[in-house]
Amino acid sequence: MSLEITPTDATLAATVRGVDLSDLDDATFGKIEAAWHEFGVLIFPQQNLSDEAHLAFTRRFGPLEQSIRRNRPTGISNLSNVQADGTVAPPSSLQARFLVGNTYWHSDSSYKRVGAKASILAAHVVPDTGGETEWADMRAAYDDLDDDMKGWLEGKVGVHDYAFSHTPFGGKEILNKEELAHLEPVEHPVIRVHPATGRKNLFVGRHASHILGEDLEESRKLLADLTEQGAQPPRIYKHKWAVGDIVIWDNRCVLHRGHRWPDDQPRTMVRTTVAGDDPTNEWVMAGETRGPAVIQGEF
Ligand code: OGA
Ligand code: MN
Repeated sequence: MSLEITPTDATLAATVRGVDLSDLDDATFGKIEAAWHEFGVLIFPQQNLSDEAHLAFTRRFGPLEQSIRRNRPTGISNLSNVQADGTVAPPSSLQARFLVGNTYWHSDSSYKRVGAKASILAAHVVPDTGGETEWADMRAAYDDLDDDMKGWLEGKVGVHDYAFSHTPFGGKEILNKEELAHLEPVEHPVIRVHPATGRKNLFVGRHASHILGEDLEESRKLLADLTEQGAQPPRIYKHKWAVGDIVIWDNRCVLHRGHRWPDDQPRTMVRTTVAGDDPTNEWVMAGETRGPAVIQGEF
């Protein structure tokens, strides 16, 4: 097998074939990592990884991130509308409502003091129609801003807030008091520099509530507008999932959102998360050698 990397027509994302992610040598991993830095999103069709292989591939990029459910150690999360008894969760249920939040552009865990580095999502059960995932290149979105806006945003700090973005989708109901206490609003620069490539990008999305020191409503609207304008062609790429596909994206410079599917159809995606590279990151999962646990409706 030889590695075959095919860029999409968008400014981000490439499809990678000719590799078995469950059996990856260091040289091939190096090429994959370099391509990931270049394209931000890599799509690996038809890998059909076991949870163990999915976790092992994830750890090549760094330690796993602790989920918001701190008292429940999890390495792998089920994003699924299938309930424990095998039936599809009704739209009014907390499980289904929580998933709807994912249909708004976001960077995973940006409401944490150190956000996620990478997310790795695999399709286990897919609906007949809908349920795509889409990514937006916020490096190219930054490049596209006019110089006045670039100048104004430089040095500005965004406040990212779990309660702000998740409350409409049951985000407070899925956590206990102690877990919520770890999710106070946090600050991130609006313009970020990618540590591997040095490229600037616009760090916005649904968890970004407002800009520190600016009018709350006005800066909230500005952040929403920047997200919306950034996530336009040719900076977006949408993937139609087939069972067994796996995708890795870079939360440090790419936003993503899910698309809805018929409420009565099952959809199960399995997610792992690489913690942000920061020696003081309190969200790095402890006891990483523990086996995978599976929970419902994360993120
Ligand atoms: C995620 C996410 C969207 C989707 O996995 O973090 O936002 O399409 N997923 O399931
Ligand atoms: Mn997400």
